[in-house]
Amino acid sequence: MQLAGKKIILAITGSIAAYKTPHLVRLLVKAGAEVKVILTPAATDFVSPLALATVSKNPVHSNVSDNSAWNNHVEMGLWADVLLVAPCSANTLAKMAHGLCDNLVGAVYLSAKCPVLVAPAMDEDMWLHPSTKRNIDIIQSYGNTIIPVAHGELASGLIGEGRMAEPEEIVSFLFSFLQKKNEQPLKGIKALVSAGPTYERLDPVRFIGNFSTGKMGIALAESLADKGAEVTLVLGPSSLEILNPKFEIRRVESAEEMYEACKKVFPSCKISILAAAVADYKPDNIAPDKIKKQGETLSLTLTKTQDILATLGKTKKKGQTLVGFALETNNEKANALKKLKVKNADMIVLNSLRDEGAGFGHDTNKVTLIKANGKSVSLPLLSKKETAEEIVNQIMLLRNAQ
Ligand code: CTP
Repeated sequence: MQLAGKKIILAITGSIAAYKTPHLVRLLVKAGAEVKVILTPAATDFVSPLALATVSKNPVHSNVSDNSAWNNHVEMGLWADVLLVAPCSANTLAKMAHGLCDNLVGAVYLSAKCPVLVAPAMDEDMWLHPSTKRNIDIIQSYGNTIIPVAHGELASGLIGEGRMAEPEEIVSFLFSFLQKKNEQPLKGIKALVSAGPTYERLDPVRFIGNFSTGKMGIALAESLADKGAEVTLVLGPSSLEILNPKFEIRRVESAEEMYEACKKVFPSCKISILAAAVADYKPDNIAPDKIKKQGETLSLTLTKTQDILATLGKTKKKGQTLVGFALETNNEKANALKKLKVKNADMIVLNSLRDEGAGFGHDTNKVTLIKANGKSVSLPLLSKKETAEEIVNQIMLLRNAQ
């Protein structure tokens, strides 16, 4: 019984697909789960609470209070191992994206500390609407998981995308989700990731920086943490908001601060990925007062910063895997190979600015992984999250072969 002992709250919302939920409850119970059902008031038009109470063998609630008794949504949220919102209407999806809480489902969702799986169900036009897409992105960014919609006949009679996944598919998705969650191949392993730009101060109001946002490094830290690693992210001045980080974040500003932070953490880390875009040069002096406008030209003297990757590479011990990035505009492979050798890295993630959708600021990336054993892997254009997954998988393969 793959769900033995698992406590699941099934939240049903107002969609015709709700008629399939008694069957879904039966499948969950059959797999060994304890199921408690909550509904939005609109869902009660599509499925009978009595049928759900019978198959789940638990009381069913659709209001924050029943007959003057308060349904403790906080307790429900804490009780569950998984909150499954199925079917999730466009309306509930929008409320989840924006924190609206005008019914019991909203209150339990906002109180839940467990993973939340969402099986959307709506007509194709609603599913493809930009606001729905945005809401899906938003709730995913909060760490919720979407169960893909199916293609087929819709309530409108049209054929298209937007059908709720079949109950059997939902249960199978849940099996794999929980299995994946338990698989923590990097459990007990410490990892370091550097990310973002660095700012080198010129005077109290100016700095020399670059366009890095930190997206790729943050995705790497997430992917490592999802696999059980204990991650420290050394992050330069990035404006990205990291919601519910699963890792420790050390904020730094300059290349020197980044070097100091990385140097401290590196010796205890088995995996280090240096994805930051570090300034290669810094101003010789930081002017104590704002530099005033004077002549037609202004010359600055810059001094080389410490190359963090190369320095860590020098002290690398057996069993430590060190990965660097190379952002190139020409002679990409040759330059990346040179960096791999000179900096004593085990792998270089090569980004070419000539590839569309790759590099700073995009949500996508296209990289080639160049390994010290001479092998290279070219990945297609993927989201930064997918790219991070692939990079971490390749690092695990490298470590297995060590
Ligand atoms: N790097 C670093 N410290 C620096 C400069 C770079 O740790 N002072 C790391 C980056 O985080 C990256 C790798 O070195 O993992 C390559 O960075 P990149 O800017 O592509 O190369 P550079 O060595 O700076 O060489 P160049 O600017 O000449 O391409």
